Amino acid sequence: MKRTVRDLVNLEGKVVLLRVDFNVPMDEGGKILDSTRIMQSLPTIKYLIEQKAKVVIMSHLGRPKGFEIRKSLWPIALILMRLLPTTVFFSNKVVGKEVEEQIKSMDNGDVLLLENVRFYQEEANCDMNFAKKIASMGDIFVNDAFGVAHREHATTYALARLMPNAIGFLMEKEISALSGAVENPKKPFVVVIGGTKVSGKIKLILKLLQVSDALLIGGAMAYTFLVASGYAVGRSFVDDQNVDYARDVLTVAESLGKRIVLPVDHVCLKEGSKKRKPFVSEELVDDMIAYDIGPKTIKLFSEEIKKAKQVLWNGPLGKYEDSRFCEGTFDIAKAIADSNAYSIVGGGDSVSAVKKAGYEDKFDLISTGGGATLKYIEQGSLPCIDVIQEKIKL
Ligand code: ADP
Ligand code: 3PG
Ligand code: MG
Repeated sequence: MKRTVRDLVNLEGKVVLLRVDFNVPMDEGGKILDSTRIMQSLPTIKYLIEQKAKVVIMSHLGRPKGFEIRKSLWPIALILMRLLPTTVFFSNKVVGKEVEEQIKSMDNGDVLLLENVRFYQEEANCDMNFAKKIASMGDIFVNDAFGVAHREHATTYALARLMPNAIGFLMEKEISALSGAVENPKKPFVVVIGGTKVSGKIKLILKLLQVSDALLIGGAMAYTFLVASGYAVGRSFVDDQNVDYARDVLTVAESLGKRIVLPVDHVCLKEGSKKRKPFVSEELVDDMIAYDIGPKTIKLFSEEIKKAKQVLWNGPLGKYEDSRFCEGTFDIAKAIADSNAYSIVGGGDSVSAVKKAGYEDKFDLISTGGGATLKYIEQGSLPCIDVIQEKIKL
């Protein structure tokens, strides 16, 4: 059992460095589409405020290359100012004299949100000197960022090696909810994968095959697999570097007798005709780009879901933010919601889609993690959780 914030005593006046995952889905104009991850982080933040700690919050947002104004956490600071019963400050730096001064001027129970940690390349490089600079500003490290607990970064992993530490309430809740699904998956167990983060998630598929009975692959993820199966995909998104890997996955699935189900029709546009009406096609040729799964695929996937006793879903099945391409995602959300299966959905965008479609209450488990949830299901643990101290047994 990992140490949790509840096990930390005498927090009054202590500087707690709290890592959360505020990587919320946003539209192209930077508008927040879903605030689940912010809301789910509040219990730990509020608890630390009540304990009169000085709460220094860190998060990433997106995958910026250096500073990008649209990836600033400032809009989230404004939201926290409305939601928290205390003074909330914002720092446009993560390290340096100015931040140190800001922390010194905090009263007990105040909150300081630091700017996007990924504006520094040291974050993803897990740079120890960067982590040491951050660690020197605080007394205790609390990790509540389940969504990014599969990444060994400076503020998710290195800080735990440098400081006394604990997990937060969200991390604790996610671990206890997901561990049942890992230890005793109800069978048949169907995994639905979509989304755009192909290079990161494709590597998990091989392991997921071992624990599941069938894998339904849609969204942008599907086209790398369709190419690997010998189909033309027009100009749809393909991760060229992973086509060979996808082919290996298909071969392994066959040898294990596990089913991988790929889309058989698609909702497409012709390249360069973004404003035009989309059309359904079974073949993807020339300049066609697939943005959603088509009606036959929806039926095929829904039938698989009907037979399942447990369903895990991560990654929208199309570009669901655009009303022309949301049907596949929304219909699959409905199929899962209507099924008798124990249903788990994870991922910033997938959860946002489920809420948008109105099925939030019909899912058994809504996880804040996308890649993290898949990895947790696959291996029963995550590096940023493993690195946290064990609870002292009395
Ligand atoms: P999650 O946040 O649930 O883990 P991802 O971040 O991997 O999911 O993927 C979400 C994104 O995938 C959404 O922005 C959605 O528009 C995009 N997407 C899904 N299918 C397609 C597609 N066929 N073409 C383009 N984008 C897609
Ligand atoms: C997520 O949205 O899955 C997490 O915040 C992790 O983001 P990342 O895939 O960019 O590391
Ligand atoms: Mg996402």
